Amino acid sequence: IFTQVELAPADPILGLTDEFKADTRTNKVNLGVGIYKNEAGLTPILESVKLAEQRLLKTEESKNYLGIEGVQAYNSAVQALLFGDDHQVVKNKRALTAQAPGGTGSLRVAAEFLVRNTEAKTIWVSNPTWANHKNIFQSASLTIKEYRYYKAETHDKDFDAMVEDLSSAKAGDLVLLHGCCHNPTGIDLTESQWHTVADICLKQELVPLFDFAYQGFGDGVDEDANGLRILANAVPELLIANSFSKNFGLYNERIGAVTIVAENEADVKKAFSQVKSTIRGNYSNPPAHGALIVSTILADTELKILWEAELKEMRERIAKMRTLFVETLKQEGVTQDFSFISRQNGMFSFSGLSKEQVAKLKDEHGVYIVGSGRISVAGMTKNNMPVICKAIASVL
Ligand code: LMR
Repeated sequence: IFTQVELAPADPILGLTDEFKADTRTNKVNLGVGIYKNEAGLTPILESVKLAEQRLLKTEESKNYLGIEGVQAYNSAVQALLFGDDHQVVKNKRALTAQAPGGTGSLRVAAEFLVRNTEAKTIWVSNPTWANHKNIFQSASLTIKEYRYYKAETHDKDFDAMVEDLSSAKAGDLVLLHGCCHNPTGIDLTESQWHTVADICLKQELVPLFDFAYQGFGDGVDEDANGLRILANAVPELLIANSFSKNFGLYNERIGAVTIVAENEADVKKAFSQVKSTIRGNYSNPPAHGALIVSTILADTELKILWEAELKEMRERIAKMRTLFVETLKQEGVTQDFSFISRQNGMFSFSGLSKEQVAKLKDEHGVYIVGSGRISVAGMTKNNMPVICKAIASVL
């Protein structure tokens, strides 16, 4: 049976990491996958995480199965991070959260639950969007439509086009929204634009599905949840898939969550029972370690303060790299205006480099970026900056 199987194309992001690992050049730089690197070019475990792990090692008594929805204390902590204290959806018991394996696992559970139990069959995603979104949603049998988001000529958002496209969506359609630090463009909506999107969703009866993987990498933990909270105040139903891969540096723990917000407590309970059934049919129940780390940190005032400080440090280092990148390109004689990169948010920048230029960067200079032109600024350091900018200057 396997003779007929066709070879799958390499993944546009993780496939690039495989290529990078196999590259024997010593001055190679991986700016493909979104992984935070410190000034030394390393991705160390956060101190708050290490301390929580030490505590767990002492206090954990069993490796018994978790319930289908995971660690209860974790799920409550997720809701507090998403909605803030005292949000009406939490107070009115309209939200239920299930721990899930990373952002991808959370999105997949959400999508499969929707397809199996609701009329929602179409999801609108931004153009461009994270390279894995289509893969996830197609695997769950959703039909994908795109709304325009980005204008290449201005290196900026095209909000009018987004509004026009979403206005043509049908009642019951899903809309994938990036909570903050839009991947791949790094361009986010303003507060008033979030209100406009909320109005459209309400008027057109669209159901928002938030992909929220970078909370704390834009302006701050609460600031970055502003769009989500605006929508949660406005619409009766929404879903959130969030991830702690980046903001806790827990990449390989695969720790995220899917949260359902319904019109009332009775509806959310029914929906959640089906979310649990979806999880049971996929991986039965989630692994514990990542959730225990996050809930230990968030339940302890000192650890939480330390985590917030570590997150701030990551955010600020990336912001500095953006400025340095723009300056170093100038020093390398690039006359094209790249100042838009310092206005973008989060781990990524959408460089505007063409596929040919991206290929040359890799083949001739060992600088790896995603084919779309997305650069992981989080992988830049003072040390590798000259190599990166010299390479870009030479392919422009
Ligand atoms: C990315 O966009 O680089 C990350 O979210 C990692 C991934 O799984 O693609």
